[in-house]
Amino acid sequence: MELGAGKVAVVTGGGSGIGLALAKAFAGKGLSIVIADVQDDALERAQAEISALGVDVLAIHTDVSKHQEVDQLAAVTVERFGGVHVVCNNAGVAGIADPWTGPLASWEWTMGVNFWGVVHGVRAFLPHLVMGGGGHIVNTASIAGLWPGMAAPYDASKHAVVALTEGLFNSMQSAQLPIGVSCLCPGWVRTGIMDSDRNWPAELGDKPEIDPVANITRKHVQRAIDEGTQPAFVADLVIDAVSSGRYWVFPHPEFVELAIERFHRIAEGLNPEIPEEMPGMPPRSQLLAESMAALAAFTD
Ligand SMILES: NC(=O)c1ccc[n+]([C@@H]2O[C@H](COP(=O)([O-])OP(=O)(O)OC[C@H]3O[C@@H](n4cnc5c(N)ncnc54)[C@H](O)[C@@H]3O)[C@@H](O)[C@H]2O)c1
Repeated sequence: MELGAGKVAVVTGGGSGIGLALAKAFAGKGLSIVIADVQDDALERAQAEISALGVDVLAIHTDVSKHQEVDQLAAVTVERFGGVHVVCNNAGVAGIADPWTGPLASWEWTMGVNFWGVVHGVRAFLPHLVMGGGGHIVNTASIAGLWPGMAAPYDASKHAVVALTEGLFNSMQSAQLPIGVSCLCPGWVRTGIMDSDRNWPAELGDKPEIDPVANITRKHVQRAIDEGTQPAFVADLVIDAVSSGRYWVFPHPEFVELAIERFHRIAEGLNPEIPEEMPGMPPRSQLLAESMAALAAFTD
């Protein structure tokens, strides 16, 4: 679709990271912007930054895991701007709790934001896009949606986003509706994702803690994120995908190789195998040695 003044883009998780970069990129094309987030200070800063680009911007406190709040976001957007053209379901979190021994609430939080947030966003905005004559939906998944190598709850939530987004694309094609769909699957991007628990909801109980062994991997992931791609680069790829109607957005082709290798093993009926090398991380043998040393120190 053509991007320009007179159109409106909504970005969830627009207060920081990839979401803020998306909002700024669409603002750069002249679109009016709606940013939705749970973190009010980030939302306020983002609103000022986007406003300085000379476009209309509305910032709305929204918890995407709650369908009533996302429905309200859609209603307020349409009331303010008369319509909506691009929707980026981007808000996401990465939990730190152990998937198998930690609190169940960490699964609920991850699925609530990463999976249900996208479901709520699609369902709330799709009728408005259709009634307005067309538009584009961008769902932020992750390379973890094609290759489960991060953490089980995160991987599961992102696999679900990849699957539902493909289902949405197929539905729009079958119904011949003028709604473009893109699925964004980044590798490491320099954002606040590793500090997601700053937004841990009090209603889910105490914030989970990380154990010293998991902390070993976490330190390396944090470094990979700190050295990762700038969010603005990812946002430019999304602008290009929306403009040209491209479905997949892969900012890190080296990670796609891991997914291809996984599917080769699936096709051959082989058991899963963690690769020795993963982009941005030390060799697996080094990680294992560091984890064993931490475990030994912990149990001494
Ligand atoms: N950073 C990476 O390396 C990376 C890689 C692949 C995918 N992603 C995905 O990119 C998306 C954006 O994350 P990011 O990396 O920019 O991290 P980030 O923490 O910088 O930004 C996430 C934003 O979502 C907001 N948010 C959290 N919970 C929310 C909720 N319940 N409702 C509404 N907003 C909420 C946060 O306040 C924050 O502003 C996520 O879906 C993440 O899973 C990130």
